[in-house]
Parts: sequence; C-alpha cells; structure tokens
Amino acid sequence: MATSTGANPAHDWSAAQYLKFEDERTMPARDLLARVPLQSPKHVVDLGCGPGNSTAVLESRYPNAHLVGMDSSPDMIRKAKTALPHREFSVGDLTSYSPKEPVDLFYSNAVFQWLKREERFSIIRKLMETQPSGGVFAVQVPDNLMEPSHVLMRETARNGPWAGTLANIDRDTFQSPQEIYDELKPLCSAVNIFHTSYYHALESHKAVIEWVKGTGLRPYLDPLQPEEKEEFLRDYLKRLEAAYPVSVDGKVLLRYPRLFVVATKK
Ligand SMILES: C[S@@+](CC[C@H](N)C(=O)[O-])C[C@H]1O[C@@H](n2cnc3c(N)ncnc32)[C@H](O)[C@@H]1O
Repeated sequence: MATSTGANPAHDWSAAQYLKFEDERTMPARDLLARVPLQSPKHVVDLGCGPGNSTAVLESRYPNAHLVGMDSSPDMIRKAKTALPHREFSVGDLTSYSPKEPVDLFYSNAVFQWLKREERFSIIRKLMETQPSGGVFAVQVPDNLMEPSHVLMRETARNGPWAGTLANIDRDTFQSPQEIYDELKPLCSAVNIFHTSYYHALESHKAVIEWVKGTGLRPYLDPLQPEEKEEFLRDYLKRLEAAYPVSVDGKVLLRYPRLFVVATKK
C-alpha cells in the first residue's frame, strides 16, 4: 500500500529536515539533467520541486526558460519561493495536475516513488500526451527499498509495541526498467534508462537516521506518539549499527542506488 505523500498538513514534509543533506540529495538532480537532450526548452516544469533545490539546478542550465515548480507540500513551496523568489511555484498534487501550456521538459527528481504504483505511469503518459513532439520527460527515483537502511526500518516496524499501528505502512516498489520501457516506448522516440549507486560518507549511524527522517522514515514516525517515536529510533539505531560498519575515518558509508529515465516524445 502506498503511503501519504504530504497531502495531510499534519504530516507535511519538512523542508528543513530534507535540506540537512542538500548537497547529497541534489547530486542526482544534476546527473538527471545532464542527460536531458534539450538545448533551450521554452517551458520547463519541476514536478515535486521540494524546497527548490532541483529547480535551481534547472535554472542554472536553462536561465532563459519559463521555469515553474509545483509540489504538494506547503512547507516545501514556502521554502522554494524564498530560495527562488523570481520563479513561480504552486502547491498542487500530481494526481490532478495539468499544465497551463505545452511543456518542453517535465523534470521530476525523487518524487514518483511516492505515488501509488498504478498511478505513476498513467500520470506520466497523460502529461506526455500534452507535450510537443521532441518534448522530454525526465525522472529519477531512489531504488533503495532493499538497502539495509530500508529493510531495517521495516524490521523495526514489525518488531515492537507499534507493530499494529504501523502494520499497513509500506511503499510500493517501483516499476522495473523493462516495465518502464514498455509503458513509455509506444509514445516515445527514445527511452533512456540508467542506474547509479551513490556512496554517501555520513558522519555517523545517527546521521543515517537524520537522512531517512527527511524522506523514507516519515510514514513510520508520523503515526507514533513522542515516546514511541524515541523508542522506535533507539531500536532502529541499534539495527543500523549492526549492519553498517564504521569506516577508517569514523564515517558511515550509505549506499544509495537510484534509477533514472529520460524519455523523448515521438
Ligand atoms: C524527496 S523530495 C524531492 C524534492 C526535489 N525535487 C529534489 O530534487 O530534491 C519529494 C517531494 O515530492 C513531493 N510530492 C510527493 N508526492 C507528491 C504529489 N502527489 N504531488 C506533488 N508533489 C509530491 C513532496 O512534497 C516532496 O517535496
């Protein structure tokens, strides 16, 4: 079952928590954009723009484009407006979003994994149908559900007094490269798919928790009472300490696989 994406204001994303690892989180945004084969798109939309970090990457390559950002989180949009006050940002949900004018580049960094599995490609195809020929849809999603950070999150959730509360919390796996290709190719002249693993040297095991608190751990912590939350985090930390070795400089290497798709409309 897919989890809340931020539409519930009580469970809104926190821009401040997310930006604790801004440099690391923005790396894939740059790597995705580097593979977009457009020289000077007129109209660019950052879907799920978050605090505007990915929008800033788009702006540096396409300073003259009409560039706008949308996101379902009011906190993220507030932060994006402060970061790039000269650009247009709006609160909206991808499940009901439609562009006001034809878009040359739809770009989405680390967002579509939060949508329900069956919604993702119907949304992408619906948006691509509005694009001109040669328009590009570029998407990056984490591929980390089988990494120790996420396996142990689920293990912690299953093994504690909170097991009942957290029983239905899980995230839909992402479509495989073959499924992605088959979903998009009928509409596209090219579908380029690639995969990269980043290795982030974080300060400590606690830093791994700080990282996932900004994203994947949110659905597990949001339903818990403050004391339960503390106990959950203590238990999760022990499991992380057993799974990730301490490096020669005292840091902890967090492997972070990500999947990239750059599709060009026929
Ligand atoms: C991991 S952040 C990515 C932020 C930014 N794009 C980046 O590159 O760092 C995921 C963002 O997706 C947004 N999001 C999740 N579900 C969404 C939806 N259904 N519609 C619009 N935005 C959504 C969240 O609010 C959050 O800001």
